[in-house]
Amino acid sequence: MVRLADLKSGQRFLDVGTGTGGIALEALRRDSNIKVTAVDFTLKMIQVARQGKDGDKISWLQADGQNLPFKEVSFDVVTSGYLIRNVSDPVQAFREQTRVTAPGGKVICLDTAPPPDNFLKPFILLYLKIMIPFLGRLVAGDKNAYDYLQESTRAFKSPEELQKIMTDAGLEKVSHKRLMFGTQVVLKGSRPRDKQA
Ligand SMILES: C[S@@+](CC[C@H](N)C(=O)[O-])C[C@H]1O[C@@H](n2cnc3c(N)ncnc32)[C@H](O)[C@@H]1O
Repeated sequence: MVRLADLKSGQRFLDVGTGTGGIALEALRRDSNIKVTAVDFTLKMIQVARQGKDGDKISWLQADGQNLPFKEVSFDVVTSGYLIRNVSDPVQAFREQTRVTAPGGKVICLDTAPPPDNFLKPFILLYLKIMIPFLGRLVAGDKNAYDYLQESTRAFKSPEELQKIMTDAGLEKVSHKRLMFGTQVVLKGSRPRDKQA
């Protein structure tokens, strides 16, 4: 996802719903000359994220991704990883990401996708239903959280639906690529050059 962002030195990068900061820290690792800002509305997540390598070089903020505390045109690239499945109004979340992005800038989203209709589907469904809760219990000691994860993955929007949501929010040239046997999707769009958000 960070590779897709194709960041250039000096660019302003925002990660929304940053969690423990994996995407923001990776962006900075790839180019230490970019200006990285990351927001999440859960304070505890940000406290952990701050402790990552070079975490002190990132501006961490507690904020709602559906009402970002930035002026219009504040960033060149805006990303979100596994945020959209959690927000109450995905169009509003992308509208905000579009508003704070510079004309011609990129908005990139990574999320889960329901498995595509092919011969792998029954195996993927079995993996989601049995293996994910099992691993959740084994590694994190929390089966319920991982039950939620697999249920919401199966019920989540298709990449085509997400693509339409991003377009409805004002982005253009929106495209997507499925990853990991089609169970993950990365979507990319840009803010039109001549559009006011
Ligand atoms: C599944 S985690 C993903 C974290 C990280 N992006 C990653 O890929 O590892 C989703 C994160 O989104 C945050 N979140 C959910 N709704 C949000 C909102 N409306 N505004 C900001 N953050 C939100 C949660 O606190 C959580 O840290």
